[in-house]
Amino acid sequence: MSSLAGKDGPRYRHVADEAAPYETIGVDKLTPIIGAEITGVDIGRLVSEEARPNRQMDEIHRALAENLVIFFRDQRITAAQHLAFGRRFGELHVHPAAPNEGDDPALMKIHADKDSPRANGEGWHSDVSCDPEPPMGSILHIKQCPPHGGDTLFASMYAAYEALSERMKAYLDGLTALHDGEPIYRGLYANFGVADKPAYPRAEHPVVRTHPVTGKKALYVNRGFTRHIIGVPRDESDAMLAYLYQHAENPLFQCRFRWTENAIAFWDNRCTQHRAMWDYWPHTRTGTRVTVKGDRPV
Ligand code: SIN
Repeated sequence: MSSLAGKDGPRYRHVADEAAPYETIGVDKLTPIIGAEITGVDIGRLVSEEARPNRQMDEIHRALAENLVIFFRDQRITAAQHLAFGRRFGELHVHPAAPNEGDDPALMKIHADKDSPRANGEGWHSDVSCDPEPPMGSILHIKQCPPHGGDTLFASMYAAYEALSERMKAYLDGLTALHDGEPIYRGLYANFGVADKPAYPRAEHPVVRTHPVTGKKALYVNRGFTRHIIGVPRDESDAMLAYLYQHAENPLFQCRFRWTENAIAFWDNRCTQHRAMWDYWPHTRTGTRVTVKGDRPV
């Protein structure tokens, strides 16, 4: 792990946006850089109200933009309410490979127990970044937790970008990289009885993308899906990606969420990466994820 420490104070100095107070929700930050727990929201009730402009929904949008990942506890929602909450943020994305829970293909199953060959999200990634239009956000509802462990870690890709040297930012400017789902998805869900598709998505995306809502730049390469940087020799791409992954995974840019039953995490895939810990074997962790469609990264 590289150190960002120096003798002239921290190399990365987080400057928080000037935040007006919230009126309809509580926002309790996990770190100054990323993550906040939201209180005063009953998602089941919120989605049962008519879908018209709603002050609390506006503030949830704002809390997501300001904190990159937001958490809600004690939300005993049904599958229909989970899907309806996702739809308040946009059209739903259907995972190209993962199994769904029940009938709706947009309700992705997240499950690991003592017999599982693997658990979801056990490496740093941004969800389905191999899609030409990768998801803007993911909403995970965990219904059954292990007694300890099973945390999810989130990292700010704004902070990771900002902490790069000016020379590195200049080098990355204008570069694109290939993201490919094929090597990761083929055969991945065989234990759930999922048959492989003839092909999985692949796409070329900018190495640094600009967030369509905040206008901020975020590093957009990840170990899960990015294969190589386009237009540079393969050894240079390998070395550069190795450096960028190691840099992006610095704990300075992270928060870590400890799940409780019926908690929800809602993360913005455009400016974060996450990884789930599978440290709870032989216990069970289970839930569902609803994913909201996004735009082509620019
Ligand atoms: C995922 O990558 O969606 C899984 C995250 C988790 O299970 O915590």
